[in-house]
Amino acid sequence: MEEEALVFAINGERFEVSNFDPSITLLEYLRSHTRFKSVKLSCGEGGCGACVVLLSRYDSDNDEVKSFTVSSCLTLLCSIDKCSITTSEGLGNSRDGFHPIHERFAGFHASQCGFCTPGMCMSLFSAIVNAEKMPSKLTVSEAELAISGNLCRCTGYRPIADACKSFASDVDMEDLGLNSFWKKGDSSHLKADKLPFYDRDNQINVFPQFLKNELGVLKRQSWYTPTSLLELQVTLKSILAEDSERVKLVVGNTGMGYYKEIVPFHKYIDLRYIPELSVIRMDQNGIEIGAAITISEAISALKKENEAMGEGGSVFLKIANHMEKIASGFVRNSASIGGNLVMAQRKHFPSDIVTILLAVGSTVKLQIDSKLETVLLEEFLEWPPLNFGSVLLSIQIPHNQSNKIGNKVFFETYRASPRPLGNALPYLNAAFLAEVSHCETTNGVIINNIRLAFGAYGVKHAIRARKIEEFLVGKKSLRLEDLLEAITLLRGSIIPEVDTTHAAYRCSLAVSFLFEFLHPLINARDGLVEDSLEKTFDRNEDPGLLLSGSQMVESNQKYYPVGKPIEKTGATIQASGEAVFVDDIPSPPRCLHAAFIYSTKPLARVKCVKTNPELLPVDVISFHDIPKSGANVGAKTMFGPEPLFADELTMAAGQPLALVVADTQKHADMAASSAIVDYDFENLEPPILTVEDAVQRSSFFEVPPIIYPKQIGDFSRGMDEADHKIISAEIRLGSQYYFYMESQCALAIPDEDNCMVIYSSIQCPEYLHSVVASCLGVPDNNIRVITRRVGGGFGGKAIRAMPVATACALAAYKLQRPVRIYVNRKTDTIMVGGRHPMKITYSVGFKSDGKITALHLDILINAGFTQDISPIMPHNIMGPLRKYNWGALSFDMKVCKTNLSSKSAMRAPGEVQGSFIAEAVIEHVAYALSIEADIVRKKNMHTFDSLNIFYGVSAGESHEYTLPSIYDKLAVTSHLDERIEKIKEFNGNNKWRKRAISLVPIIHEVFVRATPGKVSILSDGSIVVEVGGIELGQGLWTKVKQMTAFALSSNLCNADGEDNLLDKVRVVQADTLSLVQGGFTAGSTTSESSCEAVRLCCDILVERLMPIKKSLSEQSGSVKWETLITTGHLQSVNFTASSFYVPVIGTNHYLNYGAAVSEVEVNLLTGGTRILQSDIIYDCGQSLNPAVDLGQIEGAFVQGIGFFMLEEYLTNSDGLVVTDSTWTYKIPTIDTIPKRFNVEILNSNHHKNRVLSSKASGEPPLLLAASVHCATRAAIKEARKQLSSWRGRTSNESDSAFFQLPVPASMPVVKELCGLDNVECYLESLISRC
Ligand SMILES: Cc1cc2nc3c(=O)[nH]c(=O)nc-3n(C[C@H](O)[C@H](O)[C@H](O)COP(=O)(O)OP(=O)(O)OC[C@H]3O[C@@H](n4cnc5c(N)ncnc54)[C@H](O)[C@@H]3O)c2cc1C
Ligand code: FES
Ligand code: FES
Repeated sequence: MEEEALVFAINGERFEVSNFDPSITLLEYLRSHTRFKSVKLSCGEGGCGACVVLLSRYDSDNDEVKSFTVSSCLTLLCSIDKCSITTSEGLGNSRDGFHPIHERFAGFHASQCGFCTPGMCMSLFSAIVNAEKMPSKLTVSEAELAISGNLCRCTGYRPIADACKSFASDVDMEDLGLNSFWKKGDSSHLKADKLPFYDRDNQINVFPQFLKNELGVLKRQSWYTPTSLLELQVTLKSILAEDSERVKLVVGNTGMGYYKEIVPFHKYIDLRYIPELSVIRMDQNGIEIGAAITISEAISALKKENEAMGEGGSVFLKIANHMEKIASGFVRNSASIGGNLVMAQRKHFPSDIVTILLAVGSTVKLQIDSKLETVLLEEFLEWPPLNFGSVLLSIQIPHNQSNKIGNKVFFETYRASPRPLGNALPYLNAAFLAEVSHCETTNGVIINNIRLAFGAYGVKHAIRARKIEEFLVGKKSLRLEDLLEAITLLRGSIIPEVDTTHAAYRCSLAVSFLFEFLHPLINARDGLVEDSLEKTFDRNEDPGLLLSGSQMVESNQKYYPVGKPIEKTGATIQASGEAVFVDDIPSPPRCLHAAFIYSTKPLARVKCVKTNPELLPVDVISFHDIPKSGANVGAKTMFGPEPLFADELTMAAGQPLALVVADTQKHADMAASSAIVDYDFENLEPPILTVEDAVQRSSFFEVPPIIYPKQIGDFSRGMDEADHKIISAEIRLGSQYYFYMESQCALAIPDEDNCMVIYSSIQCPEYLHSVVASCLGVPDNNIRVITRRVGGGFGGKAIRAMPVATACALAAYKLQRPVRIYVNRKTDTIMVGGRHPMKITYSVGFKSDGKITALHLDILINAGFTQDISPIMPHNIMGPLRKYNWGALSFDMKVCKTNLSSKSAMRAPGEVQGSFIAEAVIEHVAYALSIEADIVRKKNMHTFDSLNIFYGVSAGESHEYTLPSIYDKLAVTSHLDERIEKIKEFNGNNKWRKRAISLVPIIHEVFVRATPGKVSILSDGSIVVEVGGIELGQGLWTKVKQMTAFALSSNLCNADGEDNLLDKVRVVQADTLSLVQGGFTAGSTTSESSCEAVRLCCDILVERLMPIKKSLSEQSGSVKWETLITTGHLQSVNFTASSFYVPVIGTNHYLNYGAAVSEVEVNLLTGGTRILQSDIIYDCGQSLNPAVDLGQIEGAFVQGIGFFMLEEYLTNSDGLVVTDSTWTYKIPTIDTIPKRFNVEILNSNHHKNRVLSSKASGEPPLLLAASVHCATRAAIKEARKQLSSWRGRTSNESDSAFFQLPVPASMPVVKELCGLDNVECYLESLISRC
């Protein structure tokens, strides 16, 4: 039988596909079969938004097109039959003209590496398209929410929010941030006019006419689309007779984001066309929602019914509101209600929907074989896992209106998750419905009926807390004692399964939520409950966004166009998705794809690595395949090489063992994940997993004495001078994963004569170049490494990108075929190490006024199994740690060699820990003295003299030491004192929320390294520039471009010519054979050194061209650039100049200064922390491009928030990373950044030793995020004071009880410190006062 073809449109083009694997996703199809590469793969699990497209479907009955976003990584290609797909290049592009969304993203500086940008643009576009159908049009709040499910690791979201808000009908232009459209002083009206025009009437046609004529439902052997229950039954029966194993019932296929399908299904049954499953019906009993109805459709239906029902519908509204926090818009748009319930029933998925539907007494309708059954949801959950032949048809949600006069229904839903707006599974969710009435006898409230549902806390499925329900029903008047007893009963009922993370925290959440719900019902006559519901819990605190902020930047005109906040080079093509990343390079013919097999054991002999040949034909490349002349080397640093693959012995969980090579990436990944590794542990010592083990076994990496930092002063004498001492206090810091949006990737193409071309997403191509040559055993000039752009690096693509590309090159060399790899997110997380965990023990002596006289630190750094750059860590830690005058500073730092994955440089490596340690010591001293930390900070801030002692020549000249003035200025501009007073008042009035504010300074030393440059002028006057630095999103190309334009035009152009030269400059990809000695892009200074290298090149060209310019101007006055170049060509001027900028030793390092003040609010019931406001002042010297530097400051700060507050990096007992997905590893999203975010770039003085007086901005601002952590600690301190008063202790006792706040200060951590039993303590204290 001939198979029906699949018909759809992409960006208006018709596609007809007949031969394909039914498990292929839309993303795979787009990326490997079309030219539309804007759709990026980042997580493959619906958790990031990089792959978002707009899907439009035509409803012929209503002649209506419905458009919504979906994640193309989960959407099956078959499910888009007769649909139209719009990707970012479909909105606009460089040939047909960009869409205003692209232009505004570029103009608002909302794209850095650009990997997330096309997905962001599509999320916004969808919001605009759908809002256009409404009378109210897009609002500011909707515009911000549009991208709440999209991740960006670079920008910190603020500029993205601005780009989105600029399309809102209710936007106030004055609320939008720095952009390239406006000039200072423009009126609001003018500002609106200057934004790239969005023509509402001329919208993109998202649904082509030709598709409207395509009728019918796709039917294929591998894709069944039953259109009736009967047909479904017949289909199921026929399949059951064959093989049901590899057949899947499917609606949105989003379940695959959680339950990865290692082996794909052969056949699918699409349930969306069966009327019974697509029903939304309202009757006197309630609402029936078909199982195939999507969560988004259900939300709309529930809201509609709520409106229709008036007050009685509030249950529906609350269900809808809760559902809006499930996943993200682009998941909810295709995820079905039924799919969610079946995942929960069959596989114990921690569902929100089940919990809320359980509380409202829902029933479900099923087809079991050929029988129809209706059962209570509660019963359904208890059934054995639903078998293949059973189908969920619909869910019935009753009205839950009370039909008794005088009775009232209360319904609330709750969830606590790391991100308030969703895109994160909850630690626990709950929904409570109570029917109450007034009790005549007691004048209180009787609970006539109550349903208490709890779920997602590490149990098979959501439960009803029956015992507590029974206890509460019928109580004539709910008293505090009853509430306490109910809570005690609850603690006995909420028991997470063994190995559930944060089990005690989850249980405490259940208590908090029950308390929150029942507390207002307590008999008011007791006179003890002084707060009303709203006042106590502030449930109105909508986590809605409505972010705001200000940016103060000064544009420096002296070196124009250097200093101008111009738009980032390539930002528009990044937004449209045309910017080419490594994985976007089309595969050469016969290209193979690779995936790593890594060790899951920390120390073992690898006996053999087996793949399943029956599953797929693959090649396995291991250290055995390294050519005889080559070596097992996969990376190198200044400290030496490291192996590519484990040989006989694996040294860490996550170490690469082999590379599987197959015909597609999917097959390579399947083969790698199903490979079996045979380990042998006989006679091996136990692995070293902790720094303590390392110390015991003396397992250290050597630190060359030349880079080991110097002690300052005499520690013993300093301690003798002290009035007080803290001895051997301890801090532990964990790791952080890079989470660049583009995971590690490479393409290796064998060339003639044993040569190899490698395209790699790497921060140091030069190093990779020599590593590949060593591995293959060929001369360096056989290798060429090309890097155009990197989709986020943050240090993770410095050293850790080398093994990835080298393994690819080895496979390509062995097989003599091109080999490419795109490492999947899980493997990337497991293999790629991250920040260095460490243990710090400190002893500090100090005077009674807070002056510290001596500090000693013992620091054990966990480096993992290879040394990477780890020996530099002691030096890096000590840099920012010296920001205070410690009197005497001594330390002992050891770099421990352990059997963990190799830790590497991550943005501000060691520096962020060093700066944090300094703050932790300050806070401890303040605690010990019962004074404000701010007093201790000020007391110990350097004078210029002490700065000189601690930093030597890096301190520069006294006028450069801007920190004290920054600190004072920030205190004034952020209204610190007034806010401290307001916070005191707030804390006095609020029991369950505490606020605090903290101001933190930083000093960050950077080093400028030698780097090459090359500038060529072509015959038409256009200019091509090559630099050693790599464009990672940090704006390096933009600054280089500005510098080129400045250096050439300031001497060679007429006064009005500069802007034109800017447009003539193109910075091109790094090519290690074209420009040698490129070095590495790291340490924040590569932009400025690349700029300087380019300036030197331009100087050479200027020198060559000046005589010609002079003679031309003598002949004809002003000289046009083109004329100058044409004449130069005629006179055989060498139009290429190269340089190698070598900074002068002694002046190649300088200090960066900044300060941040952050105010937070901690929720004592959930442990959640909201950042209410952050204000930053950062000294950028004379910024080369204030827009770029602002982006770096904000982006780094938010990445720091991730480290300090959110990102839990967990391993199992073998050291294998288990937070290996977007489900478990939570980087900040738009709802976790400061609600108000003000940044000022200080344009400090001219300085001869720095490149055009500029300063670095890439890493130092990350350290400032410690202000959020410090403020959180202060808020917790308030909570603990209150807790000890409830416990009956004096506040003095509690004040002296110092606590360390771990990093990250995640919700469980914060709640634990605020008291997992704080609700009980509160109730007991109230009762005892009766
Ligand atoms: C990134 C992300 C975040 C999420 N966050 C949350 C969250 O915070 N809270 C929450 O509750 N959920 C969350 N989910 C889960 C989400 O709600 C489910 O994935 C979705 O509802 C499943 O619907 P689907 O149509 O995609 O199901 P599919 O993936 O198509 O199917 C899922 C499973 O159910 C079976 N199935 C589907 N429909 C039926 C039926 N009618 N009868 C019998 N079997 C059927 C399928 O065979 C399959 O086994 C999240 C999902 C993603 C991807
Ligand atoms: S790649 Fe699809 S959501 Fe992340
Ligand atoms: S710009 Fe968003 S991830 Fe890089």
